[in-house]
Amino acid sequence: MTDTYHTHAETFLAQLPKGVFMTVQAGEKTNTMTIAWGHIGILWGKPMFIAYVRYSRYTYALLQKAEDYTISVPTDDTLKEALKIAGTKSGRDGDKFLAANLTRSPSKQVKSPVIAECGLHYECRIVYTQTQEPALIPEAIRTRYYPEPDTHIMFFGEIVDVYRLD
Ligand SMILES: Cc1cc2nc3c(=O)[nH]c(=O)nc-3n(C[C@H](O)[C@H](O)[C@H](O)COP(=O)(O)O)c2cc1C
Repeated sequence: MTDTYHTHAETFLAQLPKGVFMTVQAGEKTNTMTIAWGHIGILWGKPMFIAYVRYSRYTYALLQKAEDYTISVPTDDTLKEALKIAGTKSGRDGDKFLAANLTRSPSKQVKSPVIAECGLHYECRIVYTQTQEPALIPEAIRTRYYPEPDTHIMFFGEIVDVYRLD
């Protein structure tokens, strides 16, 4: 690893609530979507990212067949519109890279590409997935976030590389 996961954590955590790109490749298909929920830390002695992806996302369909994903973090304000497009359109309906004017760039360690326009990148190998247990979610949260049975699936990705490209 060229860098350790915590080196850029402050940049990552400052941007996360505004959105970062989660990009997945499964076979010939690639897609990116905006996410704003997730964790960065340590699990099983490894640097780990955990993403929360709803069943209904096309990204979820690809993740089921993928070995890895990347998280690309905007490091300036030029990608606001792209984050909006990636966070409202579905890859099921068309090529979001084209729609959002985003360029795929080969990753260093994994198959899923990174987004060239972003300054900070995490390459994550999927080591574990877990679905949420609706009965264990506090009722107020369940009512607010899950009026439909469309809960989040947690994708635990070992961070196998992290680097800046800006
Ligand atoms: C700022 C922002 C943050 C989002 N965060 C998440 C998230 O953490 N998990 C999730 O499942 N969807 C999240 N979404 C919604 C997806 O990005 C959106 O439904 C997207 O259109 C799904 O694309 P897909 O069908 O191509 O996978 C977010 C959207 C925005 C605008």
